[in-house]
Amino acid sequence: MFLLLLFVASCPNPDACLVTQSGNGSSVSCHPPARLLRHFPADTVHLAVEFFNLTQLPANALQGISQLQELHLSSNRLENLSAEFLLPVPQLKVLDLTRNALTQLPPGLFQASAALHTLVLKENRLEALATAWSCGLKALGHLDLSGNRLRTLPPGLLANFTDLRVLDLGNNQLETLPPDFLKGPLQLERLHLEGNRLQALGEGLLAPQPALRSLFLGHNQLSAVAAGAFRGLRQLDMLDLSNNSLSSTPGGLWTPLGRPARDMEDGFDISGNPWICDQKLDGLYAWLLANKDKMFFRNDTRCAGPEALKGQTLLAAAGSP
Ligand SMILES: *[C@@H]1O[C@H](CO)[C@@H](O)[C@H](O)[C@H]1NC(C)=O
Ligand SMILES: *[C@@H]1O[C@H](CO)[C@@H](O)[C@H](O)[C@H]1NC(C)=O
Ligand SMILES: *[C@@H]1O[C@H](CO)[C@@H](O)[C@H](O)[C@H]1NC(C)=O
Ligand SMILES: *[C@@H]1O[C@H](CO)[C@@H](O)[C@H](O)[C@H]1NC(C)=O
Ligand SMILES: *[C@@H]1O[C@H](CO)[C@@H](O)[C@H](O)[C@H]1NC(C)=O
Ligand SMILES: *[C@@H]1O[C@H](CO)[C@@H](O)[C@H](O)[C@H]1NC(C)=O
Repeated sequence: MFLLLLFVASCPNPDACLVTQSGNGSSVSCHPPARLLRHFPADTVHLAVEFFNLTQLPANALQGISQLQELHLSSNRLENLSAEFLLPVPQLKVLDLTRNALTQLPPGLFQASAALHTLVLKENRLEALATAWSCGLKALGHLDLSGNRLRTLPPGLLANFTDLRVLDLGNNQLETLPPDFLKGPLQLERLHLEGNRLQALGEGLLAPQPALRSLFLGHNQLSAVAAGAFRGLRQLDMLDLSNNSLSSTPGGLWTPLGRPARDMEDGFDISGNPWICDQKLDGLYAWLLANKDKMFFRNDTRCAGPEALKGQTLLAAAGSP
């Protein structure tokens, strides 16, 4: 192995994987047209095998590299993984499986993954998650399930995550969320639900997440948001409700957010909705005028009715000069 390293390090060669060493161990990076190494240095801490269109990995692919901390397997065509795949690498912190063809995760896949912090399963073909899919995960801080085909979520999906800060479920096919979805010890800072098929946002769903700073709900089919849906979200700095089916929102919905209590750091987007600009929007109008500096896409935020106001911007309807 030492000889192989010397060879690779001294003659950079497009046919070979790139191996670099630091005080922490070796980093191995394989991209086409390199030929895949059959064995990796025993002190490999970082391994990338990407863009090969691999459909399967040998069950023992990670045998002998027990110090591995980061594994990047994006842009292959992996269809399944064996339940034993991660057993040899209990120190793994980052696993990136972006753009593969996984339809499911075998139960027990993460049984030895207590150190895993970042799990990216973006752009696969997952249709469902088993309730026990996450058994063994204890340190997860960032979970990306975006761009899959999830229609429902199992109850208790997140129940055992205490450190989860970022959850991305964007661009799936979710129509509803389990009512207890966000209960549990987790304290999310960023939640992505954009690009689903959600129709309603219920009263208590977000309540257990007072530390939430960014909430992405754009590109759904939301037509109903409960009056207290945002109650308790006193840290929210970014809210995206664009491209939904909102024609009105209940009075009081907006008061927990932004001014007068505080400034939203980033802003809010309510463009691309069929707003009906009548007195039912009075609560929103008052809030808009106080927070208009933080409003994105003002020019695309327009009244769809009544006839006399159709096409006017919501800000103008609210009385802004
Ligand atoms: C070695 O690991 C430490 C802690 O993970 C990290 O801060 C440092 O940057 C790493 N050193 C190198 C050369 O990669
Ligand atoms: C992987 O598949 C893509 C799309 O079919 C192709 O363009 C690419 O050359 C393939 N890569 C390899 C390493 O075979
Ligand atoms: C993945 O699926 C293929 C086809 O169903 C099967 O032959 C193979 O054994 C599976 N591999 C693993 C690791 O489960
Ligand atoms: C959560 O943890 C409890 C206690 O360790 C365990 O019984 C339960 O199966 C776990 N649930 C999930 C979904 O992992
Ligand atoms: C809303 O949809 C329109 C039209 O599809 C698109 O141009 C716009 O970028 C979308 N807005 C956001 C914030 O995604
Ligand atoms: C605002 O939108 C209207 C109609 O969609 C368009 O004609 C106009 O150019 C836009 N103005 C700006 C400043 O983008």
